[in-house]
Amino acid sequence: MPQFKDSELTAAVIRSFDETPDPRVKFLLQELVKSLHDFVRKTDLSFDEWGYAIDFLTRTGQKCTPTRQEFILLSDVLGVSMLVDAVNHRQRDGATETTVLGPFYVGEHKTMPHGADISADLPGDRMFVQSRVTDLAGKPLAGVPVDVWHADDDGYYDSQRPSYATQGPSSRARFVTDADGRFFFRTILPCSYPIPTDGPVGEMILQTRRHPMRPAHVHFLVNAPGYEPLITHVFIEGDKYLDTDVVFGVKDDLISRVEQRSDPEMPDGKQASGPWHLMTYDFRMKPGAGTAPRPMMAATEDA
Ligand code: BEZ
Ligand code: FE
Repeated sequence: MPQFKDSELTAAVIRSFDETPDPRVKFLLQELVKSLHDFVRKTDLSFDEWGYAIDFLTRTGQKCTPTRQEFILLSDVLGVSMLVDAVNHRQRDGATETTVLGPFYVGEHKTMPHGADISADLPGDRMFVQSRVTDLAGKPLAGVPVDVWHADDDGYYDSQRPSYATQGPSSRARFVTDADGRFFFRTILPCSYPIPTDGPVGEMILQTRRHPMRPAHVHFLVNAPGYEPLITHVFIEGDKYLDTDVVFGVKDDLISRVEQRSDPEMPDGKQASGPWHLMTYDFRMKPGAGTAPRPMMAATEDA
């Protein structure tokens, strides 16, 4: 009578994928089995714990909708999203650092003229953002679309509000760089905000005594032909959550000193309505190829 050995079970499951036609799929599945089996062995996982994990993952899937991706949120708070980012961007060669896309990118944004106020109807401290897109040698890149988006003064993205369907976007737009690689716009100073906590991921964060906060930031997606798409944020210096971002997305290179100004005119010569803030941040693009990721909403709808 053969005796059961758990190491032989692992070897048998790995072998069961031997005929997988795609070598990369075969490699990924066999490595996944190794890591999962090691986890169960190392932790002596109980039936209750296994059942809890199955229930947690089931609820994570059930929480997903065309506008909500709870699995990506899980990947984010476990640091997996930033690790995938890291292994895919090992050599930056002086290019601007990357970070998570996040769940609130809704796809191609509406193009606005330079200087437009993307948060005109929203309360908050006024901010002028000026930026330049260049290659690694500092040569300006003209005609480059740059999508920007950020949370409002209550910490919500426009797409999280029921009014999004009828009122359309706010605090999000696309700008196209001018001949000198520049773009600029008006908005409000973003604040730190919690990731959604009304699902299983939030439950895990709160039950494990972690906080759900992300430090204040503006998202940028710069997509220049002939260069790697740049998905990043600019964080605001001094934010109290910079060292403990719930999704581990902060990099020193991405922290910007936002100046408080009281000049009567903003950098484009137009009148300021009161005190304002100035964010100045330039993006250095790395030559390469690739396509910007698809937004989660569209990806879920197509599935
Ligand atoms: C965000 O910055 O929009 C974000 C990123 C990861 C998880 C939740 C929100
Ligand atoms: Fe964000």
